[in-house]
Amino acid sequence: MGKIVWSSAYSVQSGYLDHQHQILIQIVNDFNLAIARGEGKKIAYPILNRLVQYAEKHFRDEEKLLEIARYPAEQLNAQIREHEKLTEEIFRHCENWSNYGQEALPEIGRFLKEWLMDHILTSDMKFSKYVANVDDKFLSAK
Ligand SMILES: [Fe+2]
Repeated sequence: MGKIVWSSAYSVQSGYLDHQHQILIQIVNDFNLAIARGEGKKIAYPILNRLVQYAEKHFRDEEKLLEIARYPAEQLNAQIREHEKLTEEIFRHCENWSNYGQEALPEIGRFLKEWLMDHILTSDMKFSKYVANVDDKFLSAK
């Protein structure tokens, strides 16, 4: 599984959200690297746990910024639903993991990579022009 390399083409025009996306990319890369090295059994769970916690913070910050940026309610609700769906899907994958063991790990790694790229390039790109002129500094203090 190739790692994701950040590129300026991934920028959603918010320095703060871009930074959070870079951290999410790093966590997904760490997950896939651990599996490739055969260390999945030992460290995949803590990495996944970190991902869930960080993704939750990222989603909250993103939703807050979108409200301030006056992102249209319908699109904001779709974004919130996407965030909820991801959390559900991760838990579903974790169930597979406890049912099928280590064999489920590469599939989880593939899913996370595809989801993250889709989140950034499809869902989040839609709001880039709304957040481009909004001061996002208030988020970093929390
Ligand atoms: Fe995002």
